[in-house]
Amino acid sequence: MEGWSTRRRRAKASVSLILFIVVTLIGQTKAEETQTVSPLDTNSNAIVSRIAFGSCFNQSAPQPQPIWESIIGFDPQVFIWLGDNIYGDNKRPVRVCGRERTVGPWKNIERFFPSTEDELSRRYTATKSNPGYTRLRQRYPEVSVIGTWDDHDYGLNDAGKEFPYKDASQQILLDFLDEPHNSPRRKQGGVYTSYMFGPPGKQIKVILLDTRYHRDPLFSDGTMLGEAQWSWLEKELNGPQSEITIIASSIQVVSNLSAIFQPLFYMESWSLFPKERRRLFNLIDSSKREGVMFISGDVHFGEITRDDCGAAYPLYDLTSSGLTQAVERTVPKALAFAIRFMAWIAPSTKRVFSPNCRFRSCTYGLPNFGAIEIDWEATPPMVKLEVRDEFGRAAIPVEFPLSDLRQPEEQQPRSKTGMRGGQDWKYYKQHCLPESELPWFTKYRIALILVAFAAGSTMLLVLVVKKAVSGGKMFIKKFKVD
Ligand SMILES: [Fe+2]
Repeated sequence: MEGWSTRRRRAKASVSLILFIVVTLIGQTKAEETQTVSPLDTNSNAIVSRIAFGSCFNQSAPQPQPIWESIIGFDPQVFIWLGDNIYGDNKRPVRVCGRERTVGPWKNIERFFPSTEDELSRRYTATKSNPGYTRLRQRYPEVSVIGTWDDHDYGLNDAGKEFPYKDASQQILLDFLDEPHNSPRRKQGGVYTSYMFGPPGKQIKVILLDTRYHRDPLFSDGTMLGEAQWSWLEKELNGPQSEITIIASSIQVVSNLSAIFQPLFYMESWSLFPKERRRLFNLIDSSKREGVMFISGDVHFGEITRDDCGAAYPLYDLTSSGLTQAVERTVPKALAFAIRFMAWIAPSTKRVFSPNCRFRSCTYGLPNFGAIEIDWEATPPMVKLEVRDEFGRAAIPVEFPLSDLRQPEEQQPRSKTGMRGGQDWKYYKQHCLPESELPWFTKYRIALILVAFAAGSTMLLVLVVKKAVSGGKMFIKKFKVD
């Protein structure tokens, strides 16, 4: 016969078992809920007319961050993370001398080094729990959040295919984006993918590229995307049509700014891989796909560029960078003017200069986000590309009819310069010549100004020191005589 204590032990065990099952079930439901908060309902037939995107977000940036309220105020139906969504790598201080020299030809240690997986995850968690971003995510399913990566969230500044921890980084990024555990995106090499939004007749395709996982070293003129991603992209461009196709690249596609700053410094962009960029433009051209445009980030300022000779119609590149990391925030306020002046005199042949830009340079070096608005009701539909400031005001606006991004009715042969005929021939001509082909005095005018400034400052300093030394000597002499 069972005693009271035995029955009580059994009852306790049963209660514990039931509790365990209930807790496990709740846990599973919670886990499933997290997974079912899919980044995107691709079956949605809702018309998409507002897309926002951003890049270069430091998870440790101070609050308040009004930019999130401005993004929410724009009321986007899609938000795209365009890379450097966290700063996951670490950096040593800039040192030109001493035991650890991080800059100059004499440097003996790399300035940037990767974090551990745990640290990378913690930094993503910091971004994910950012109050502003949380409010944006809470608007799901009205807002779908999707994204790709750049170097700092990949794990290391300027890194490419050689980065040894890329597979772990890939899973951590996909966790951040709530990518389901059974998603094919988790099984492939790289985070490239695509989405289709909207009903037939008003469809927008978003193609997210991976410019890190397969990329050859800088200045190798090797591959940017790798063969697997190239053949996938070819299928994507030749697949089902859409009225608009947005190709998202973490780094600038059209701009050639590096051409005017080398050898002083470089900025990562497709211009450092000219064969690959030619291949990209040729692929768009041969696919005959209409309505293609690029979005990009990475450079810590915003601008809109355009290439009129890459395909049969102008290829726009809307660059927005960064949500927190902006070039004018890296210098004292008094020097912001110098940055704007440099940007204004930079000989950019691809930048679109709009009379409605905030600054004459038509660049924007304070925190910003990208905004794409489509007026489907207009005939023809109108496209508005904007770099918006942290308060939601347009800093660089460009507007054009979607019909501008169509194949010319009568396909005309290319001229010597690569341009096609048509009534806009002269208008588009200004965005054909690459900066690398400008006369050297024009191309290097910023470098020349910087070198002249550095030389002038050094001479002035030498003169001042010389005067001070001779003044000191005279004073000592006079003191001794007295
Ligand atoms: Fe970057």
